[in-house]
Amino acid sequence: MLPSVIAVLMLLSYTCGENPAIQVILTNKGLQYGKHTGTDWIQEILENVTLPDISGKFPIGRLGSVDYTLSGISITKVDLPEPSVEFYPNTTGLKSSMSGLSVALSGEWRTHYGIIHDGGTLDLALFSVSVMSIVELGKDANGHLSISSVTCTCTIGDVAIQFYGGASWIFRPFVPFFKGHIKGEIQSRICPKVEEVIVILEDHLQVMNVSFDVDQVLSLNLSLTGLPVIDASSLNLGLKGELYSIRTHKEPPFEAQSFTVPQQHSYMFSVGMSEFTLNSASYGCYSDGLLQATVNDSMIPPLSPVHLNTTSMGQFIPQLPKLFPGLLMSLTVYAREVPMFSLKPDAVKLDFQGTVKAFAILPNDTQAPLFTLNVDSNFSSKVWISGGRLEGSTEMENFTLTLIGSEVGTFQTDALENVVKMGIEMAVLPKVNVILGKGVDLPRMKSAQLVNSVLKVDEGFIVLCSDAEVLLTRNDFK
Ligand SMILES: *[C@@H]1O[C@H](CO)[C@@H](O)[C@H](O)[C@H]1NC(C)=O
Ligand SMILES: *[C@@H]1O[C@H](CO)[C@@H](O)[C@H](O)[C@H]1NC(C)=O
Ligand SMILES: *[C@@H]1O[C@H](CO)[C@@H](O)[C@H](O)[C@H]1NC(C)=O
Ligand SMILES: *[C@@H]1O[C@H](CO)[C@@H](O)[C@H](O)[C@H]1NC(C)=O
Ligand SMILES: *[C@@H]1O[C@H](CO)[C@@H](O)[C@H](O)[C@H]1NC(C)=O
Ligand SMILES: *[C@@H]1O[C@H](CO)[C@@H](O)[C@H](O)[C@H]1NC(C)=O
Ligand SMILES: *[C@@H]1O[C@H](CO)[C@@H](O)[C@H](O)[C@H]1NC(C)=O
Ligand SMILES: *[C@@H]1O[C@H](CO)[C@@H](O)[C@H](O)[C@H]1NC(C)=O
Ligand SMILES: *[C@@H]1O[C@H](CO)[C@@H](O)[C@H](O)[C@H]1NC(C)=O
Repeated sequence: MLPSVIAVLMLLSYTCGENPAIQVILTNKGLQYGKHTGTDWIQEILENVTLPDISGKFPIGRLGSVDYTLSGISITKVDLPEPSVEFYPNTTGLKSSMSGLSVALSGEWRTHYGIIHDGGTLDLALFSVSVMSIVELGKDANGHLSISSVTCTCTIGDVAIQFYGGASWIFRPFVPFFKGHIKGEIQSRICPKVEEVIVILEDHLQVMNVSFDVDQVLSLNLSLTGLPVIDASSLNLGLKGELYSIRTHKEPPFEAQSFTVPQQHSYMFSVGMSEFTLNSASYGCYSDGLLQATVNDSMIPPLSPVHLNTTSMGQFIPQLPKLFPGLLMSLTVYAREVPMFSLKPDAVKLDFQGTVKAFAILPNDTQAPLFTLNVDSNFSSKVWISGGRLEGSTEMENFTLTLIGSEVGTFQTDALENVVKMGIEMAVLPKVNVILGKGVDLPRMKSAQLVNSVLKVDEGFIVLCSDAEVLLTRNDFK
């Protein structure tokens, strides 16, 4: 279970005074689901509790006192009522409590009076145990989520104790004495155990990476941008959500804008992502010099009416075949500005402003520059979730070519623009849409998967609302 609690916390944490570009909101529904899985964990922990030896002396009148040791006291059975867990705004944390817990324990007793040794077994039952724990969630200097115990209280209603074997009757008069002693001992040991578990959780959070390499080019920074925000019905974590180039690590010249994820209490959690995350990725690729490509005739479909050679291009640039007869051409295409995404209700828009430099390939393989065009285009995409996959489709909204320089004299770009536009629409976009249509799997962790997910694109951000299903076998609780 520990791994899954950490997985959930990791899912949540993925001061800068900066706006978070990713917000993760856990609703009460999600908290209650988490609690349900957590209950098994508590049971598991409790079943494994072995109390340290309890020893002392009890007086036997004028004869002095008997030394006793109760050892190997371990829990044999726990009857765990459903705990309650709630968001606790007072400490920016969580409050969990459990009452009416009963526990059966067994162990051994030994007495020691002068040279007389005796021993046997004992059964112990604790009734009406209540445990209440309040934790505070915070953020450490490295942007990790942190958790610490604020309060823990434990009360034990009643204790029953039974001794067997040896001269166990000698204990009988002292049962009330033991009851009080054992009650106090156990009562004082439960909260430290709870606090120990919180420290283990905290240790796991501290070593968690808040920065992940997404691929060989980009790394994602998911450090917290501020303290967790907790109200009575949800927990909101703001994460930096910036993708940057691993090589250049340059900060983009734009900032994340604040946004508010609409409350969706019917889902366990929501993840909102600002267009900043997409644009930081775009900037990362741009600053790394990745947004450029060379196009040559072998990439043009054989059936295309236009080919990348000076003869074929003569249709649009009449002087070209006269100046450079019968030569193949190549194009260098690059983004002249960072391609920017903008998120609009139900659409993902992309503005691409590029430049194309055209060359003729001379017989000695030298490239002779011919002309330079600016390409401005807008794409609009839709994204949705289907069958657990993120899918999409895209179309081109606007495409313009502008001649900005020429070694072969000026020419009209209208006809060329129409042909290239048609080429993109008929040859390029259908292939892109096949890929988008196949989609990508939603993130899936080893121990949890997303179910009932819906995606909505809003002004400036995109929101995924989802339920999760923890896939745990009994072995995962270890
Ligand atoms: C939270 O704090 C407020 C004031 O600080 C107090 O009135 C309220 O009772 C507290 N709530 C709980 C559940 O302790
Ligand atoms: C954390 O990141 C480092 C370096 O990127 C990596 O070596 C390590 O395996 C990561 N740890 C975890 C728990 O993912
Ligand atoms: C992630 O962002 C935080 C806050 O801006 C910054 O302090 C931290 O150094 C960044 N981590 C990496 C690996 O860039
Ligand atoms: C076109 O480019 C590809 C990949 O860059 C290259 O393998 C191929 O040889 C080039 N073809 C011509 C005709 O230059
Ligand atoms: C140029 O392209 C045309 C088709 O548009 C083709 O018929 C011709 O063979 C090509 N010329 C060269 C030199 O590749
Ligand atoms: C197209 O993109 C340009 C920038 O390249 C932008 O100024 C323009 O508003 C966009 N037009 C549409 C219709 O989205
Ligand atoms: C290639 O040929 C062109 C024209 O024939 C000439 O100007 C240029 O210097 C040549 N380049 C090389 C590297 O030989
Ligand atoms: C395409 O872009 C040009 C220049 O950016 C603009 O004048 C034109 O109105 C746009 N067309 C459409 C259909 O958006
Ligand atoms: C039970 O306790 C033992 C000894 O402290 C430990 O090695 C083991 O991992 C624990 N098992 C569970 C399920 O916590």
